[in-house]
Amino acid sequence: MGFLSRKKLILFLSMAMSLVIIAGCASSEAQESEDKTTGLSPDEILNTAFKDEFPLHYESYLKNMTPEDENTSKFVKEIEPNLPILFHNYGFMLEYNLTRGHTYAVEDVMNIARINDKSIGSCMTCKSTAVPLLLEEMGDDYWGASFKEEIVPRTLAYGEGHEVDELGEHGHLSIGCSDCHDPVTMELRITRPSFTNAMERQGIDVTEASKNDMRSYVCAQCHVEYYFEPEHGKVTFPWDNGLKPEDMFEYKENQAIEQGFDYDWIHSISGAPMLKAQHPEFEQWSYGPHGEAGVSCSDCHMPYERTDGSKKITSHHWTSPMDNVEQTCRTCHSDKSESELVERVDNIQDRHLEAMHETQEHSVRAHYYVNRMITAGAPEERIEEAQWYIRKGQWFWDIIAAENSDGFHNPQGGMDAMRTSSDASNEAIRIAIEELTKLEIDFNELEEEMDKIVQTVYDEEDPDLKHTHATNDYFPNVLELED
Ligand code: HEC
Ligand code: HEC
Ligand code: HEC
Ligand code: HEC
Repeated sequence: MGFLSRKKLILFLSMAMSLVIIAGCASSEAQESEDKTTGLSPDEILNTAFKDEFPLHYESYLKNMTPEDENTSKFVKEIEPNLPILFHNYGFMLEYNLTRGHTYAVEDVMNIARINDKSIGSCMTCKSTAVPLLLEEMGDDYWGASFKEEIVPRTLAYGEGHEVDELGEHGHLSIGCSDCHDPVTMELRITRPSFTNAMERQGIDVTEASKNDMRSYVCAQCHVEYYFEPEHGKVTFPWDNGLKPEDMFEYKENQAIEQGFDYDWIHSISGAPMLKAQHPEFEQWSYGPHGEAGVSCSDCHMPYERTDGSKKITSHHWTSPMDNVEQTCRTCHSDKSESELVERVDNIQDRHLEAMHETQEHSVRAHYYVNRMITAGAPEERIEEAQWYIRKGQWFWDIIAAENSDGFHNPQGGMDAMRTSSDASNEAIRIAIEELTKLEIDFNELEEEMDKIVQTVYDEEDPDLKHTHATNDYFPNVLELED
């Protein structure tokens, strides 16, 4: 059953009927693949190797190459201008970009400023088709191996001798066919053990998954929240208590800490032990309106497309469904016009981003208030109490901000988490005000200094330099203070 609720299933049945009809007349290739095998090796991982047998899919896949699609920083005013403050002392303060197409994943992970000499093999896990082979060869040593010294050279070695073509230098090994398909039968398959194991711990056997569930499960190998468990650095999904932000937070506060995973980094403005969230598209979707109704990732992100002549294939250009509302949304919502649907999505996303800016502002203030507690000499246990609320407050917006649909996959879930976030951040501020009042701190000065420093970060045009303005003499880096 996966994530389908029975109540919603009934509602969904009438829509599913029309889908069956679409699927039924759509693709002769899909049906052929049931009884036909390819001439490929079961270990084939090069995307280019699939070109001859599946020219239409390959051509569709090539559309993920959009050279005009330069990397875009999330730090710009319109997106999340406070991130260099909020991620201070962590790699994410250096560079944090919007997503790009699957074909760029290997290139992007090799070039991003966050990757350093300490980065480990796990960082390749959601980028390259080479990962299952690396795991086969290296076993659990894969996860913690040096990313730069060992994993990159080993990955690129698999591609040695191939011709550089339209896919560029690394696209042939970037997220591709063998990640989701068995190269011999072309059946959908799961290749990342982190997903299989997380589902198993919830009593779900993914080898028994329905075809419809597989249309989301293939994406859930990567589009999820994860952390590196401390023993091997293994990519692990914190799902044992459930998939909602509060369930995953509870896991981080309990199971993860029991394993020895206390935090991702120490914040240098507030000194708080912080958690970083990653892109939980699957989790947010799973309890949103579409996930509950069994509408799969592929229904919206891989619509049928007509290629030359009359042939229809499943699109392999993973992008915004809003570029193709007719073939995505309107296959089910035919009662609404394209412009109505676009407006619905715009409304959801605008409200979401507005709430996100407000929520992040509470977090920013909490960091600086606790900074002042530290420099003013507030009692240690009160500082620690406030730091815990900062950690909680930041987790609850970050898990939503890191989700890439700007609220669409689960509008209510996003709002709920942001409310929890603001409550926690404001609790940190309340504790700080209580202690700073006892210490007779000048609150006008504190507020003025805070406005000034936030404005300076905001006004800096160069995204790479923004973080350098987030501390100053008034709000020093607390990790560099003398005792
Ligand atoms: C991220 C996962 C993913 C990747 C990567 C991927 N596919 Fe698919 N593919 C799918 C899904 C999902 C379907 C729809 C399957 C279904 O509904 O039965 C599909 C369907 C197909 C089909 C069946 C015919 C059809 O159009 O529905 C073929 C053939 C195919 N893909 C070839 C490829 C080739 C070739 C590549 C690499 C260039 C590739 N796929 C990469 C997920 C993927
Ligand atoms: C092996 C890991 C992996 C799998 C499987 C995977 N993705 Fe992705 N996806 C990524 C990564 C990594 C990125 C970001 C790449 C970058 O920015 O360089 C991404 C980016 C995207 C984007 C944004 C593209 C853009 O132009 O900004 C969409 C949409 C997307 N994926 C949808 C899907 C869907 C739907 C599925 C399942 C059918 C899926 N992905 C399966 C790892 C994966
Ligand atoms: C009901 C349709 C629908 C379903 C189902 C759905 N999505 Fe989306 N997704 C969207 C829309 C709409 C957006 C926002 C696109 C935009 O802002 O232009 C989006 C955005 C995204 C993005 C960011 C794209 C970008 O350009 O940066 C990713 C990644 C993504 N979805 C992955 C997934 C995954 C993985 C699943 C399944 C777990 C899923 N989606 C299920 C409709 C859907
Ligand atoms: C495969 C069918 C399918 C596709 C494709 C689909 N939807 Fe839906 N949509 C549904 C179902 C089913 C529901 C849930 C109905 C319910 O629970 O009342 C729903 C609900 C919604 C809702 C109401 C959510 C709420 O708050 O209750 C909106 C808005 C929506 N869809 C927009 C979209 C947009 C925009 C797209 C394209 C990006 C899209 N849908 C694609 C089937 C689909």
